[in-house]
Amino acid sequence: MSGLKKLVLSLLIGFLAGSFLLTSHTLAAEPQAKARKVDVIAHRGASGYAPENTIAAFDKARKMMADYIELDVQMSKDGKLVVIHDTTVNRTTDIDSEAPVNVKDLTLAELRKLDAGSYFGQQFAGERIPTFEEVLDRYKGKIGLLIELKEPARYPGIEEKVAAALKKRKLDRPKRKVVVQSFDFASVRKIHELLPAVPTGVLTSRFSDLTDAKLNDFAGYANYVNAHLGNVAADPTMVPRIHKLGMKITPWTVRNRDEVPLLLQAGVDGIVTDYPDYVPKKVR
Ligand code: G3P
Ligand code: CA
Repeated sequence: MSGLKKLVLSLLIGFLAGSFLLTSHTLAAEPQAKARKVDVIAHRGASGYAPENTIAAFDKARKMMADYIELDVQMSKDGKLVVIHDTTVNRTTDIDSEAPVNVKDLTLAELRKLDAGSYFGQQFAGERIPTFEEVLDRYKGKIGLLIELKEPARYPGIEEKVAAALKKRKLDRPKRKVVVQSFDFASVRKIHELLPAVPTGVLTSRFSDLTDAKLNDFAGYANYVNAHLGNVAADPTMVPRIHKLGMKITPWTVRNRDEVPLLLQAGVDGIVTDYPDYVPKKVR
């Protein structure tokens, strides 16, 4: 090889090597496309792993690094706020009755005697129906709280009591990771009036037709439209329409791992699930 050819060849090799190094350096320095973060909301606590709406389920949610626990609030006969989903105690306690027994017909003392864990598994025997205040005191500042007022029309004055309990703990201030939601829109409006700095959410049922007019109305008093996950799957315009109005959406309720990718793809802000570990770590 002539001297000139050797020079050209070495320049070419040098150029190629240089551009390879430059390219790899550029790629290494390029920030990775950031995965969008979604909130993981443990539905009634991590209720796939522990009895729903109990301290065991809420503690489990914390251990599983959920962002929020979701809890259902109702009222006892003597006006105390309690955390339970059904309006009767039969499904989730050891009440000795074939006939339905209403939460609102039992005093707090009577409700507290019931075992709210053994229906799920003997290892949870002795779990109690928590009071709302007990849950606030145990978890405030440690995990977010998504508080659902369950059938509030049965419990006149429940909004004022919930508001007072939150105010007493200064949880009515901005950025406290507290959200109050309900299927009862009048109740959500009332909470918004009582606690203007606390984000609110409307819960909508599976077969709701979420028209622009309805969403516009919600935007007047709510920060979240928490639709059934089936609605999100059926209507790809829903999430962008909610976001356009400045609201968020955390649909309910994932009980099947396969439902997660679709919700992430749709751009939801959070996922309500009985199984917090179903939401992949990279988006949390
Ligand atoms: O947070 C959504 C979800 O809790 C609503 O349904 O019946 O499980 O209270 P439900
Ligand atoms: Ca609920």
